Amino acid sequence: MAESISNEEKSGREKNIILKASGIKKSFGKNEILKGVDLEVEKGDIVVILGPSGAGKTTFLRCLNFLEKPNKGQVTIDGLTVDAAHASKKEILALRRKTAMVFQQYNLFKNKTSVENITEGLIQVQKVPKQEAIKIAKDHLDKVGLSEKYDSYPANMSGGQQQRVGIARALALRPEVILFDEPTSALDPELVGEVLSVMKKVGKTGITMIVVTHEIQFAMDIATKVVVMDNGVVIEAGTPKQIFSNAKEERTRQFLKKIVPEYSYVI
Ligand SMILES: Nc1ncnc2c1ncn2[C@@H]1O[C@H](COP(=O)(O)OP(=O)(O)OP(=O)(O)O)[C@@H](O)[C@H]1O
Ligand SMILES: [Mg+2]
Repeated sequence: MAESISNEEKSGREKNIILKASGIKKSFGKNEILKGVDLEVEKGDIVVILGPSGAGKTTFLRCLNFLEKPNKGQVTIDGLTVDAAHASKKEILALRRKTAMVFQQYNLFKNKTSVENITEGLIQVQKVPKQEAIKIAKDHLDKVGLSEKYDSYPANMSGGQQQRVGIARALALRPEVILFDEPTSALDPELVGEVLSVMKKVGKTGITMIVVTHEIQFAMDIATKVVVMDNGVVIEAGTPKQIFSNAKEERTRQFLKKIVPEYSYVI
């Protein structure tokens, strides 16, 4: 007992919160989509967000970097707090630069090569000199297994390769946190594995990741925390083990049964 208390105290002291969202609310017209969402993420955490379609997962991710401006609430990333009530453009840009996003549909520029897709943000936003930006782009393409594709255009790459360019682009920005919004759900099933394995590799480097995904195996393998959202709120959060084998909330169990047919056997 004494030992467990001292361990708790120890972990409390060592907590290194890199991202904190408090009371995030967002409405579109009369529809309140986020009803007060809180999230605390430690440096190096891999947080998986799950939940039914329409739960507000994408909206929440977009509120974290103010791509969607919350109506209420605060986001702190790496010591910078932005409050929805009085967020200046400058603060929002500074907050956004601490993050990078990987999108479901890759969102690559169609008329740019892999290297150019990555250098764009480095040169335009971070003012990195062109030759250095090209080197950074190539290094990151190497890391995601695309050394052969420096000069390829999106149309000449598979979905899995395009998404790996998307991940290389995010990494190249050297963000504090990478936000992934269903990064594998637009892919043909045979291409999902290559993207998940790159994501696992990225996770192991210690970068903080928040990932909206229904890939349960990925969550079980590398998530440090699983957050279940429904109807604009977090209904449950815990370790993968707690959520997948011992969910407290009936709504979590029902949702897991839908996405993992064998779930009923797991519990
Ligand atoms: N720009 C918008 N204008 C109006 N309504 C929106 C807008 N963006 C999202 N919504 C609504 O907010 C709700 C939550 O959407 P959101 O995309 O955040 O859900 P989600 O959990 O990501 O769902 P999915 O799993 O289908 O991606 C939905 O009812 C959606 O129609
Ligand atoms: Mg979504």
